[in-house]
Amino acid sequence: MSSGPDLLLWGAAPYASIALLVFGTIWRYRHDKFGWTTRSSQLHESRLLRVASPVFHIGLLMVIGGHVLGLLVPKGVTEFAGLDEHGYHLISLGMGSVAGLVAIGGLGLLLWRRIRVPAVRGATSVSDKYMYVVLVLVMLAGLANTLVDNGLRGGYDYRETVAPWFRGILLLDPRPELMASAPLDYRLHTALGMLLFALWPFSRLVHAFSAPVRYLLRPYVVYRRRAPGSVGTRDPRRGWE
Ligand code: HEM
Repeated sequence: MSSGPDLLLWGAAPYASIALLVFGTIWRYRHDKFGWTTRSSQLHESRLLRVASPVFHIGLLMVIGGHVLGLLVPKGVTEFAGLDEHGYHLISLGMGSVAGLVAIGGLGLLLWRRIRVPAVRGATSVSDKYMYVVLVLVMLAGLANTLVDNGLRGGYDYRETVAPWFRGILLLDPRPELMASAPLDYRLHTALGMLLFALWPFSRLVHAFSAPVRYLLRPYVVYRRRAPGSVGTRDPRRGWE
């Protein structure tokens, strides 16, 4: 039997955060199409950004892959595929640590640039500031889950608690008592994750829903040299020389 605060935090709050994410995104799209952007600061500074942004995004993609495997795939499925708990633990600790450190390293560089380059600092909005604080806390708490509980303390099997709780929320079968029994840093990480999802539509993070996937498959842009004779025989008009 769950207590009142547990019911609220692990039974009701997840749905409030999903509702804000979904309806907030629809609202933002309808009311602020021109503000639907990364608010790129590339024009202010590009040298650091060229390194920091890919490092952060590649790390984050690995982190997302880990979450899909760890939270959505039931333990029975990986065991059926021949991966026992010990094997899973080693993979999750190894890959999770690398993914988390790369993502946080990239985020650290992005934030350093944002604070140290005056033009980028000036282009930082209030919503950016809230979002960055929550993003940093979510990621640090997540890394603490992996490095401290799963690493230093020898292992915590979150696939018995956090993962079935997460699937229960998605399947409209909430089981708050599962999450309530997880260690404090797992509860902190998950609560901060829910807060980040609730802030998502009101921040620059909306750009993630417009990831330029088609860019990878689009045809090349063909550049041609404007050598004399290659662009027709007419004399160029004033202003087009
Ligand atoms: C609310 C939904 C979420 C749940 C239930 C969740 C759950 C978890 C769990 C169980 C771990 C620990 C894995 C281990 O012990 O090895 C973890 C790690 C981590 N999480 Fe989350 N997470 C959530 C959202 C997020 C979000 C939104 C972010 C960042 C944008 C994030 C970033 C991380 C990072 C960086 C790690 C450490 C690296 C890793 O193991 O992948 N998580 N998360």
